[in-house]
Amino acid sequence: MNILVTGGAGFIGSTLVDTLLMCGHTVDVIDNLSTGSLRNLHDAERHGSSFHFEEFDVRDPALDVFIERRRPEVVFHLAAQASVAVSLDDPVHDAEINIVGSLRVLQAAATHGVRKIVFAASGGTLYGDPPRSALPINETFPHAPTSPYGISKMIMLSYLRTYQMVRGLDFTALALANVYGPRQDPYGEAGVVAIFASNLVSARRSIIFGDGEQTRDFVYVDDVADAFVRAIEFGSGRILNIGTGVQTSVNTLYRMLAQAVGSSDEAIHVSPRTGEVLASALDPSEAYVAIGWKPRISVPEGAIRVLAAQSAAAIGPWDPINQSAQQTPSVGKGKRSASGEAVSRLLEKVIVTPGD
Ligand SMILES: NC(=O)c1ccc[n+]([C@@H]2O[C@H](COP(=O)([O-])OP(=O)(O)OC[C@H]3O[C@@H](n4cnc5c(N)ncnc54)[C@H](O)[C@@H]3O)[C@@H](O)[C@H]2O)c1
Repeated sequence: MNILVTGGAGFIGSTLVDTLLMCGHTVDVIDNLSTGSLRNLHDAERHGSSFHFEEFDVRDPALDVFIERRRPEVVFHLAAQASVAVSLDDPVHDAEINIVGSLRVLQAAATHGVRKIVFAASGGTLYGDPPRSALPINETFPHAPTSPYGISKMIMLSYLRTYQMVRGLDFTALALANVYGPRQDPYGEAGVVAIFASNLVSARRSIIFGDGEQTRDFVYVDDVADAFVRAIEFGSGRILNIGTGVQTSVNTLYRMLAQAVGSSDEAIHVSPRTGEVLASALDPSEAYVAIGWKPRISVPEGAIRVLAAQSAAAIGPWDPINQSAQQTPSVGKGKRSASGEAVSRLLEKVIVTPGD
């Protein structure tokens, strides 16, 4: 099947592209590389003519001609201004990409015979800041975003419904919880797993805003890619939560990662960030009914995979057969919190993890 992934050079998009190519699909990627990177597409490039990349901005009116020329059957729309902080600083910029750019995708898709749009919605912002007693929240919970980013993502749900009704363009919107995994930018705003892992591997101290008892629903990126693939055929006209339903506090996450690398460093607590959501968890039951999806990778297992990926990035790929002194991790010169042995053990664990 011919598929277009917008934002396919990003963290989630590139993982999805790899999954789609492995399933045998032909994949076009457009991305303006504002936060994404061609590095994320190295694996995809090995698929030869099944994979095609074009540097392209979804705000560009020429998108219509691109879609007319490439004729995808399904469009995965992930290109976005994905930062809450940026949206608060510059709501117009956020709306230009997340609303006007998204509308260009929908309009071109409806005009040129695309069967379905699968949209990356945001479960972490869609429902506002619900009371802990309401968690995990399901899809009937009122939409109450508290940032321009959350608003732009929510508005697109109305457009998707309207395009389905008026133009016959099918859709599934996946309301994603806090996605984490390899390739997530450790310098980004949302990737607390990547930030902690990167700091621990490099023996840098981590900062926790507030008391660290705020919770998040961390869902592993391979599970998220699986949900997108299932939505090719199922979940018509639905908005589905893609999370685990499990809350993990920021303190618990930090301790889990620190313990895995054998670090006794404490995180530094600073003042809480204004407007930060205190607790979040998404009930994924409907996704199981609608698209047969459930999360498979637990947070401890996923955290180890991220640590292993961060370690490999810091020291180069680990070769368990020809392990030389050079390949022994030697990260964080001076004070080291992630010992070579600890990181090697992590890598071993990941290498033997079934289902990789
Ligand atoms: N990471 C999460 O936890 C999370 C949670 C909920 C929803 N989402 C959504 O999932 C999608 C992917 O997020 P991600 O975490 O992979 O972020 P990301 O920043 O890695 O990916 C976004 C991609 O879109 C590209 N892009 C941005 N503006 C563009 C434009 N105008 N034209 C073309 N390409 C453009 C970027 O270069 C990047 O490659 C986004 O829509 C985001 O809002 C992510």
